[in-house]
Amino acid sequence: MKKNIIHERSGGEKNPVGVEVARLSKNFGGQSVLRDLNLSIKPGEIFVIMGPSGSGKSVLLRQIAGLDLPTSGAVRINNHDPVEPDTRDRFALALVFQAGALFNSLTVDDNLALYPLEHRLCSRKEIRSRVERALKILSLENATKKFPSELSGGMKKRVAIARALVMEPQLLLYDEPTSELDPVMAATITEIIATLKNEFRVTSVVVSHDRDLALTIADRVAILMKGQLLFVGTPEELKQNRDPAIVDFMNPQIDLKNPRYLKLEAT
Ligand SMILES: Nc1ncnc2c1ncn2[C@@H]1O[C@H](COP(=O)(O)OP(=O)(O)O)[C@@H](O)[C@H]1O
Ligand SMILES: [Mg+2]
Repeated sequence: MKKNIIHERSGGEKNPVGVEVARLSKNFGGQSVLRDLNLSIKPGEIFVIMGPSGSGKSVLLRQIAGLDLPTSGAVRINNHDPVEPDTRDRFALALVFQAGALFNSLTVDDNLALYPLEHRLCSRKEIRSRVERALKILSLENATKKFPSELSGGMKKRVAIARALVMEPQLLLYDEPTSELDPVMAATITEIIATLKNEFRVTSVVVSHDRDLALTIADRVAILMKGQLLFVGTPEELKQNRDPAIVDFMNPQIDLKNPRYLKLEAT
């Protein structure tokens, strides 16, 4: 169950949280995926991490979520290590997985309520009201009794976001929230991410290939290439940057999902 959403009851600290990544490296066997990465994500901002397929985006997100130990270096969430259970008690984190990770045998309603019920995050009445609120925000009121197999790709993504919202997260991590969606639905999801940030003051870290998403809603964008950061700055700074590697990266003709775009080197 824990694979879907990371959250243990948030303690007293309700404000948006900041994330510090310090000299973070992650190796798998002989492969160096993240290399001495430094990053500072400010409380309340939308921070978009872009990069070609295989550049280490999902690995970085899992590190921030505390799902995996670093090989060296550290992640800190308001000065706390995300892998420590104490941190999970202190802050509410939620991760929206790329494939949604919905339970196929459960209705939308039950998918949203399952985790908080099992972990007794709050009273049943409070869970009910959170579920209803999340369904409303994501315009899913008519889908409550549907099963995931009956939903479109865009609806599944919305359900995955709604489920994260039920946790009332202070830090919301999204892995490719607009992938495999048509442009209209991708724009809708993009808008939802911006709305959630504004209404709930949640710090949002969004891993994405989607240049439009990055340029429209990001406060800042990072470009991850071969496990290192090629760029960190505002969308405006990104648009104006003349570094050939970045200009190339932002060229819409280049398919960032093409595995040949990037080859990781051995350590
Ligand atoms: N648990 C793992 N074990 C071994 N290799 C992994 C693991 N997770 C990711 N990798 C490798 O790390 C690299 C980066 O993966 P990932 O972060 O998923 O890329 P992306 O930027 O597309 O999200 C890939 O080469 C992938 O095969
Ligand atoms: Mg990925």
